[in-house]
Parts: sequence; structure tokens; C-alpha cells
Amino acid sequence: MTNYFISGASRGIGLELCGQLLTRGDRVIAGCRNPESAHFLSELKKSHEHLQIVQLDVDDEQSVIDCFENLNNEGAVIDRLFNNAGIIDWRDLHVVSADSFSQVLQTNLRGAFLVLRHALPCLKRSENAWIYNMSSRLGSIELRGNTQLGGAIAYECSKAGLNMLTKQAAIDLANSAIKVVSLSPGWVKTEMGGEDAKYEVQDSVSKVLTATDQLTPAQNGGFWGEDGKEIPW
Ligand SMILES: NC(=O)c1ccc[n+]([C@@H]2O[C@H](COP(=O)([O-])OP(=O)(O)OC[C@H]3O[C@@H](n4cnc5c(N)ncnc54)[C@H](OP(=O)(O)O)[C@@H]3O)[C@@H](O)[C@H]2O)c1
Repeated sequence: MTNYFISGASRGIGLELCGQLLTRGDRVIAGCRNPESAHFLSELKKSHEHLQIVQLDVDDEQSVIDCFENLNNEGAVIDRLFNNAGIIDWRDLHVVSADSFSQVLQTNLRGAFLVLRHALPCLKRSENAWIYNMSSRLGSIELRGNTQLGGAIAYECSKAGLNMLTKQAAIDLANSAIKVVSLSPGWVKTEMGGEDAKYEVQDSVSKVLTATDQLTPAQNGGFWGEDGKEIPW
């Protein structure tokens, strides 16, 4: 049984990750902003004893500290951390507001950094820990111009920054048993991805889990797609 932690687990990809992992017999700690209103997670909890729901707002450093201090005090082990919580603003350079730009970076980049840092004590209890930073092909500088999608400048910058977080954290943790990668789940039908997206959320998550199960230490510090293929930075 592998111990997973998932941020942004109330809906979308995070919620589907919880469902598929519990169904296959793994243990899941699900972080969400408002556990009281996370109805889908509460439903899952009724049929899965290995689900623990915890409060986590990645925008709020104290919430992140409290979440992982509590888990650490319980002796929790985290083998796999999905740094999944995220938001998007689709507006481009000309119209995105400075406040929204800051908010997207705060949640997608600073939030992922805080979760990664404060989760380290629980990750260090694992003999084979992996951090999966949920990035996006929209964060690939090399792929810019090669896709129809784009214009979401704040989001793209946040995911490019997240990719650097992956690279640097993998280097900083090289002497530990903790590996760090960026993942792209593909374009997925969630509130963020919208109705026109390529994948149903079940299909994306199933692919992501297959891809992550097959990662080897040689792939540490890289950027990988839901198809298991490397994505250029
Ligand atoms: N969908 C796609 O096509 C796609 C493609 C590439 C990458 N991704 C990435 O995959 C991840 C999940 O996306 P999704 O499509 O599942 O999005 P989603 O359906 O919009 O769900 C986003 C999740 O993040 C949570 N969240 C947002 N801000 C948070 C905060 N400050 N603290 C804690 N949780 C917070 C939301 O919680 P609340 O319910 O509390 O708002 C929700 O659970 C994101 O990082 C996204 O960038 C998605």
C-alpha cells in the first residue's frame, strides 16, 4: 500500500486521483480548502477507510504549516505527493490584471513551493518518495507557438516557474530518497480545462497513474506527459 498526498482534492483531477488510488488499494490524504463543503470527498470517505481529509489552502502559509505539522505529529508517511492544486486565468498580456497575475503565481507556484517544503518531514519517512508537480504543456517555453492554445500568460508563467521548482528541488534533494518531477495531465475536461478538452478526467488520471508508476530514478528532475513521454522545458 502506497501513501499518497493530494492537494486540490475537492474536484477535478485531484478528486479523480483520490478515487482511482483508493479503488486500487492505496492510502490517500486529501488536502482541500473547505473539508465541510467537499461533498464528493465525503462521499468517497463513506466507502474508503484509507481516505483522510485534511484542510489545506496553499495560498495560506499557516494552513500549509498546520496541515503538515499535524500529519508529522501523527507520524504520517508520504510516499507520493501530488502538488495538484491550481487555478487559471485565460486572459492574455493585454488584459490580464496585475492582481490576477499575482494570484495565479501565488497559488500555482508559491503554493506548490510551500507544500513541497512543509511536506518534507513526512516525505523523508519514505524509502522511495516522489513529488509530482502538476504542470502543463502551457508551461513549456519550447512548445510556445506550437499549439493553438495560449494567451493565458499568468498561468503559463506560473507553470514555467513550477518547472524550475521541480528542477531545483530535484537537485537540492539529490542526497535524499526524494525524487521530484513535473507532470502534464494533458488537456482535461474539468472546470479548468472546459468541455472541449481532449480527455475525460478518468482517462487522464488513469494515464497519469500509469506514467507515474513507471517512472524510474533516472527520470528524476524531468518533465513528463500523461503518455509517459518527455516534454521539452
Ligand atoms: N484541466 C486541464 O486541462 C489541465 C491541464 C494541464 C494541467 N492542469 C493542472 O492540473 C491541476 C488540477 O487541475 P483541474 O483541471 O483539476 O482544475 P480544477 O477542476 O479547476 O480543480 C482545481 C483544484 O485546485 C483547488 N485549489 C485551487 N486553489 C487552491 C488553494 N489556494 N488551495 C488549495 N486548493 C486549491 C480547487 O479547490 P476548490 O474546490 O477549493 O476551489 C480544486 O480542487 C492544476 O494544477 C492544473 O493547472 C490541468
